[in-house]
Amino acid sequence: MKGLNRREDKLFIDEVSLEDIAKEYGTPVYVYSGSKLKENLKGYLSSIREKDKICYSVKSNSNIHLLELLADLGSGFDVVSGNELRKCLEAGAKPEDIVFSGVGKTEEELVLAIKENIFSINIESEEELDRIIKTAKDLEKKAQCMIRINPDISSESHPYIQTGLKTSKFGILREGIDSIVEKASKSRLINLKGIASHVGSQIFNKELIFENLNLLIEIANNLIRQGHALSYIDLGGGLGISYQEERELKPREVLEEVISRLEPLNLNLLLEPGRSISGNTGVLLSKVEYLKKTSDLNFAVIDSGMNDLLRPSLYQAWHNISVVATNNQKELSYTVVGPVCESGDTFGEDRILSLDEDSILAIHDAGAYGHVMSSNYNSRLRPPEILVEGQEIKVIRRRETFDDLLRQERDV
Ligand code: LLP
Repeated sequence: MKGLNRREDKLFIDEVSLEDIAKEYGTPVYVYSGSKLKENLKGYLSSIREKDKICYSVKSNSNIHLLELLADLGSGFDVVSGNELRKCLEAGAKPEDIVFSGVGKTEEELVLAIKENIFSINIESEEELDRIIKTAKDLEKKAQCMIRINPDISSESHPYIQTGLKTSKFGILREGIDSIVEKASKSRLINLKGIASHVGSQIFNKELIFENLNLLIEIANNLIRQGHALSYIDLGGGLGISYQEERELKPREVLEEVISRLEPLNLNLLLEPGRSISGNTGVLLSKVEYLKKTSDLNFAVIDSGMNDLLRPSLYQAWHNISVVATNNQKELSYTVVGPVCESGDTFGEDRILSLDEDSILAIHDAGAYGHVMSSNYNSRLRPPEILVEGQEIKVIRRRETFDDLLRQERDV
């Protein structure tokens, strides 16, 4: 993982030893590199033009301290719930830099989005458009919108993280666009700003992005010819990160081409990257509880479970696992498992590691879709989050306590 470095047999994040963090704050614990997070955002910001927007996808990691850091650098935000929107506003984001996606926006969420006058509510269905028009009418205020297209393109990744196929619930199929546009413009309550899409996550093939771009440009051009003043193409997120040995696409190598195609058309670009900004900034630190040998396998039973990091169980996702302080033990092949009572609570199989009974392990690339997808399954307490910048260490979420857990059931 790029934010990590090894010094004298110890693993560091920025200038801080991960072993020291585990000793001081306990495990499991999420640790993020603030400098890596900033560097990732800057990789995007330095590749775009003035009116283009980078709207960090909040769902990938929504800790408010990270949102503040990104907002300070001029990031916009892609949200999928009213609470994500409220968090961004709380973090100091400008409403004109926020887009709101998602197929199930409630009336309450739409009221908030319209009142705050965010950059765009991305329309996901004609039924949703009806609700937006009604809400705008009640509020006597126009809604800023883009239409999210379903491009029917595969992101060539795990089925659960593909969102742009015809069979998926997201976006509007081509044949549905005309009636949406007609309804929106007749209402006089919708300011249609552009065309949006999100093909899916973990994209490593540039051609998919260009195929999607061409489709959006064609649709936008048609609408512009009909007199609609569109000014943005929102290509969504999806740039893949290397969990194993995948070749990452860097923002610049994609954006140069994208921008050169948009430039002559006078269209601005909006992107919604999540994982490629937050993913490689974080690790989940865990302690080995037991080294359990059976006739077939060596299990390393650790103190993190699928409730702390769901990706390996849910998507059979591969995360690198390493020992934070090297020791003299023999290297063996381990199946790394958590304590949760599910066979799927496995972080990796056949991992070659040298382990002691209380070794600390770092599960890499856990900055995106890590803590945000955690739960209290098995009445386990969610781990704390720590932000490191240079030598500075800041706790940005405290560890949950047994009282936190009980309170929601007792205070009713
Ligand atoms: N925009 C929209 C509309 C999205 O639905 C998503 C992700 C993004 C942007 C950001 O995509 P990214 O740049 O992070 O690939 N939990 C899964 C990933 C689900 C992604 C859902 N949508 C995982 O852990 O792999």
